Amino acid sequence: MKAAGVVVLIVCLATVTKSKIYTRCKLAKIFSRAKLDNYGGFSLGNWICMAYYESHYNTTAQTPLDDGSIDYGIFQINSFTWCRDAKLQEMNHCHVACPALLTDDLTDAIICAKKIVKETQGMNYWQGWKKHCEGKDLSEWKKGCEVS
Ligand SMILES: *[C@@H]1O[C@H](CO)[C@@H](O)[C@H](O)[C@H]1NC(C)=O
Repeated sequence: MKAAGVVVLIVCLATVTKSKIYTRCKLAKIFSRAKLDNYGGFSLGNWICMAYYESHYNTTAQTPLDDGSIDYGIFQINSFTWCRDAKLQEMNHCHVACPALLTDDLTDAIICAKKIVKETQGMNYWQGWKKHCEGKDLSEWKKGCEVS
């Protein structure tokens, strides 16, 4: 009986840690602390809006593309250019293993996103941002959150 209880507990914990969906304001706080606000000239609202349309704030989101590459994590960063996975090892501009972009700790994903903004000179990399966020009034995205 005891062993069964432990097994149930382990299964529960594994399920809980499997996929993390951040709330908008929690992300706002993390992004703000990581100095994303106005990074590359893009206000906090741009980042929160972009992450929403890219992943719906799901840190474990993975999207396989037709060319065999995969978009990873909260910012849907692609393995072809930016990270290293089993199939694609060559470019890896962010010097990071792709699965590191799927963790609850967003440090690696944020560092890589900053690099993308620098190297591609803006946020056009993100289709979701281009389609839904670019040029819009984005102040609503941090409304009600404890960020300045
Ligand atoms: C988050 O993404 C993972 C991987 O794509 C998926 O299995 C999971 O169901 C998603 N979670 C939610 C709540 O959508």
